[in-house]
Amino acid sequence: MILRILSGAIVALAVVLGLAVATANTPSPSPQLLVTGKAIYESSVGCHACHGVTGQGNGPVAFSIKPPPRNFVTEPFKGGDSVEQVFATITYGLPRTSMVGYPQVPEVHRWALAYYVLSFRRR
Ligand code: HEC
Repeated sequence: MILRILSGAIVALAVVLGLAVATANTPSPSPQLLVTGKAIYESSVGCHACHGVTGQGNGPVAFSIKPPPRNFVTEPFKGGDSVEQVFATITYGLPRTSMVGYPQVPEVHRWALAYYVLSFRRR
């Protein structure tokens, strides 16, 4: 029992610390980040193949994927829509979907992608 409480507390602490680190590292939005994000999104990294160049989940391989890729323009973000949450989704992926994590993409490029993905949203 004590152990369960303790491990719960440790997990909570890790989450808080992780969030604090992510927030501390978040770059400010800039036009340059969006330009970089677009270039990477449309590059051989392959985001556009599933999510589509317009972010509407209509890329060339989207039809074969279940669940289908998110329509970034009109649908809510399951993993959260703060730039830190989108960054985390891009880094770690979403379980039980074909959205894998992209930890191999340099961190600054993942931030650029997160801002670019959010820029598709209808506002
Ligand atoms: C193989 C197809 C595929 C590729 C390539 C891909 N995604 Fe995804 N992506 C998905 C699917 C499928 C989902 C989950 C949809 C769902 O569960 O509704 C998803 C979800 C996401 C989400 C989370 C949306 C939410 O609901 O929180 C983000 C952000 C995202 N992708 C960004 C990217 C970026 C950036 C790239 C390129 C680095 C990328 N994806 C590459 C298929 C793909």
